[in-house]
Amino acid sequence: MKGIQNLRVDYSGDVLDLKDFNKNPIKEFENWFEFAKTNDVIEPNAMILSTLSKNSINSRTVLLKDITDEGFVFFTNYTSVKGNDIRENDNVSSVFLWKKIEKQVIIKGSASKIKAEDSIKYFNSRPRKSKIAAWASLQSTKLNDSNDLAERFKYYENKFENKEIPYPEFWGGYIIKPLSVEFWQGRSSRMHDRILYKKESKNWSICKLYP
Ligand SMILES: Cc1cc2nc3c(=O)[nH]c(=O)nc-3n(C[C@H](O)[C@H](O)[C@H](O)COP(=O)(O)O)c2cc1C
Repeated sequence: MKGIQNLRVDYSGDVLDLKDFNKNPIKEFENWFEFAKTNDVIEPNAMILSTLSKNSINSRTVLLKDITDEGFVFFTNYTSVKGNDIRENDNVSSVFLWKKIEKQVIIKGSASKIKAEDSIKYFNSRPRKSKIAAWASLQSTKLNDSNDLAERFKYYENKFENKEIPYPEFWGGYIIKPLSVEFWQGRSSRMHDRILYKKESKNWSICKLYP
């Protein structure tokens, strides 16, 4: 397509100093996440999550909803494509792109379901309509007519009218326990900076990578 080859942005970040990086990449991620938030990155918790099925790699956006000492938590329908993929192969990769601050973080690791009680707690904190939407969506299955979704939404709205909306067992959180985390900073003239953490038994190794 005409013009694409001329789209070019020169970044301006500073060189990353290994000395400034926390020994624990989850803690370092929290620092970068706070920086993204305070610099008004829109939806800094949006990440591209890739999972593996037998014959393809499937990518989509999900929202990070918690960071614990163990890893990174997102919520979804357990019977979706991603849910089925993770059941077969727990290796996942997720990418945060924060264009405004010229940063990227790539997390690779293993995904597992969080405890049901934690999923229930988060589900109960969601707005009523989001709860109904979780019940109404047969996520990732074929929708023949948009009215079918609207009708399912209405059905659950009526069913749970004036009641607490129960937790749907097919929905909940996954935690990604990281095995590697890469922090990327855009710099001038494509001389970008990359810092890679890798889990080696219980400790983290840390090194720089060529851009
Ligand atoms: C900004 C953004 C945030 C999203 N957040 C979530 C999320 O937290 N959980 C989720 O299941 N889907 C989320 N989605 C929808 C997914 O990208 C995807 O369409 C859906 O989960 C089905 O994916 P699958 O068929 O690959 O399992 C989000 C989409 C966008 C664009």
